[in-house]
Amino acid sequence: MNLFTERLALRQYVEGLKKEGETIGFVPTMGALHEGHLQLVRRAVSENDVCIVSVFVNPTQFNDKGDLERYPRNIKADAALLEQAGCAAAFAPSPEEMYSAEEMNRTFEFDFGGLDTVMEGKYRPGHFNGVVQVVSKLFSLVTPDRAYFGEKDFQQLAIIRRMVRLMGFGVEIVGCPIVREESGLALSSRNALLTPEQKKLAVNISAVLKESTQFALETSVRELHDAVIAAINRHDGLQVEYFSIVDGDTLQEINRWDESDYVVGCITVYCGKIRLIDNIRYK
Ligand code: PAF
Repeated sequence: MNLFTERLALRQYVEGLKKEGETIGFVPTMGALHEGHLQLVRRAVSENDVCIVSVFVNPTQFNDKGDLERYPRNIKADAALLEQAGCAAAFAPSPEEMYSAEEMNRTFEFDFGGLDTVMEGKYRPGHFNGVVQVVSKLFSLVTPDRAYFGEKDFQQLAIIRRMVRLMGFGVEIVGCPIVREESGLALSSRNALLTPEQKKLAVNISAVLKESTQFALETSVRELHDAVIAAINRHDGLQVEYFSIVDGDTLQEINRWDESDYVVGCITVYCGKIRLIDNIRYK
């Protein structure tokens, strides 16, 4: 597997692939790879001639410095996993290689059409500006035919789809289902930061969400919303930041089940200091 740290070397590699008429499947990541990422990589490998993966902890999407510093990093282990999964090239640049000082310090402007004012966007101001900034840069470098994103980051996926429409990238965005541990816990790089006790506690997030699907449509949206939050907060060490029951396309909250045919419950929960997200489809 090729491991590039410089944009120019990656560009030359990509140009070589294009000359040969090879299709490129791209998986952008922030590293600390787990089975969820590897499923995206394997799918990209199987659906394209070549798979390229970026491993870059993007500083411009972190609104909390502590979170950026704590974010797990292990490029050696990541490279070994990627090679095993059949990835042809990994791109692991430094922040300085990715951004000029000006880009690093100026908020990237983008018309989110309201998709950024709710949920993650509301609680992590500027987060999606950084995501669009880095993903648009990566798309320009890699020029992929297909790019693969996990549905765990539900709002991110909707925003990337909008970005592709607005910026005119000729890439197909492939959304892939959440990968869970046997316990139900959604796989996340942040799980590596949980103590064994916290990991057991965090299982309650997906368990409560799953249970809520059994009575969702028989109760009001408000009652379901409040019941889910109460059932999670009941566990000492878990604290819900938000739970939003939204239309899956507009991401706007619904008040009645008949307002939309596509309804998703998106949640963020602090397990100690670790911020975990998950979501579940109701309709
Ligand atoms: O989902 C992630 O890991 C990141 O937000 C992404 C898409 C790699 C951009 O930094």
